Amino acid sequence: MNLVLMGLPGAGKGTQAEKIVEQYGIPHISTGDMFRAAMKEGTELGLKAKSFMDKGELVPDEVTIGIVRERLAKDDCQNGFLLDGFPRTVLQAEALEALLSELNKKIDFVINISVDKSILMERLTGRRICKECGATYHLVFNPPAKEGICDRCGGELYQRADDHAETVKNRLDVNIKQQEPLLTFYETKGYLRTINGQQDINKVFADIQDLLRGLA
Ligand code: AP5
Repeated sequence: MNLVLMGLPGAGKGTQAEKIVEQYGIPHISTGDMFRAAMKEGTELGLKAKSFMDKGELVPDEVTIGIVRERLAKDDCQNGFLLDGFPRTVLQAEALEALLSELNKKIDFVINISVDKSILMERLTGRRICKECGATYHLVFNPPAKEGICDRCGGELYQRADDHAETVKNRLDVNIKQQEPLLTFYETKGYLRTINGQQDINKVFADIQDLLRGLA
């Protein structure tokens, strides 16, 4: 099962990715998570990524393609993978096609979680994440049982630096610009499947399960 999850910031990629990897046992490859891990470790990659992410800009294609190339070559990707937030530009999509062809693999589906941009600002500014296990919550749409504390592991919840209102606006503008040509690219290839992301979180997942039934 070789999958790509697409969607604007806040569409619900990370939320659905948690459920997909739990159910289907494939590795979750999120370029955003990889950059944040590198930032936490203070590596050269992390410092470079931070300078773009803090402004809501995309990290340059060559850097992003490089980390995905290394990750997809690892053993745990032999029986499938879930790419989340990559590719985000047509150049990245072309590089992924070339890389998968070298590895003798092919994408099964590109799942586009579609959400109107008017509701994404609220989703992003209300998001909170567990410092320990990375679980995602929302102050209104998916609150933890106890304020500020993760239901799953008891860890402390925090707000991502790029989820503050000033940065969110630019992130949305930057990603909206890239989205249209990428959707056309995958539609032409026949991989694209669009899911309505403006439903309850579990209903969105049920629609993804319906789509994946033939592959599992
Ligand atoms: P990344 O970490 O990938 O962030 P993003 O694409 O901006 O997406 P998010 O993680 O913000 O949103 P999501 O769709 O996962 O939503 P979530 O499920 O959390 O990238 C960060 C940065 O890294 C980029 O800006 C860029 O700088 C860099 N980067 C990463 N990849 C790159 C690439 N390929 N090329 C270049 N640069 C790259 O949900 C959001 C909130 O909504 C949560 O609170 C959740 O609880 C809630 N929610 C989810 N689903 C629903 C629902 N159905 N109903 C109500 N609420 C919901």
